[in-house]
Formats: sequence, structure tokens, C-alpha cells
Amino acid sequence: MMREEIIQKLFAEALQVRKKAYTPYSGFKVGAALLTVENEIFTGCNVENASYGLTICAERNAVFKAVSSGETNFDGLLILTDQQPPGTPCGACCQVLAEFNGDLDLILANISGEKYIKNLKDFLPFPFSGGDNP
Ligand code: THU
Repeated sequence: MMREEIIQKLFAEALQVRKKAYTPYSGFKVGAALLTVENEIFTGCNVENASYGLTICAERNAVFKAVSSGETNFDGLLILTDQQPPGTPCGACCQVLAEFNGDLDLILANISGEKYIKNLKDFLPFPFSGGDNP
């Protein structure tokens, strides 16, 4: 299980990146902080578009930043919203996360400081993996 100190660091980073969310259409801001096994943190915010479907979620933004920096081994992801209870990741993001670690620890947090810990398997127990699912 992840140490509280690391969770605090992930929270602080997610809070910062959430401020950068580009959300002129929904106003719904999300910050994500992805922890690698080497204790590096990659952050992401949601970026919307006038063509709504082109919007990218905060979680995938963080994953793509990490992968394009050469990191693919992930230990945990903190997702920060102002929802009560804290918001959950969308299905598309779960599938993208499962590509790298189907057993990823997820910390769902809100800006009031509430948080709870889940696992990616709770949200996507049977990710698509190219045809060998039961
Ligand atoms: N969004 C995320 O960033 N992550 C999710 O897991 C769900 C939704 C964003 C996309 C869009 O900018 C806004 O939240 C409303 O759907």
C-alpha cells in the first residue's frame, strides 16, 4: 500500500495541475497525478475542444506524458475533482490505464481533502486485451 507521504505529494501535484485544466465547455476540472515504480510523478489535466469529442481526460493526459517520457511502469494514480464523493475514472481511461497495469492503485480525492483508495480492477475487472478474455 502506498505511503501517506506519497499520497500527500500526489495530491499536491494534482491540485496544481488541476488549475491548468482547459474546460470552457463543461467547467468540470480534473487533475491527475500518476506515480511510477521509480517514484516519479507525471501529471495531467483535462483539455477540452470546441469539437467536444476531441476532449482528452486528465488521466489519459498523464499516462501519455509518462509514456512519451519513456515511463510505462505505474504504481498508483490520484484523481482529483471537486465532486462529493470524489469522482471516478471514465471507462476509456480505465482501459488505457489497464494497458500498463491492470492492478493499479487508485486514489480518488476531492479538493476538500476527502479521499478513498480503490483499485483499477474495481472499475474494470476484465479489460480488453486483444481477444484472450474469458
Ligand atoms: N473527464 C476527465 O478528465 N476524466 C474522467 O475520468 C472523466 C471526465 C473530463 C472530460 C471533460 O473535460 C470533463 O471531465 C467533463 O466530462
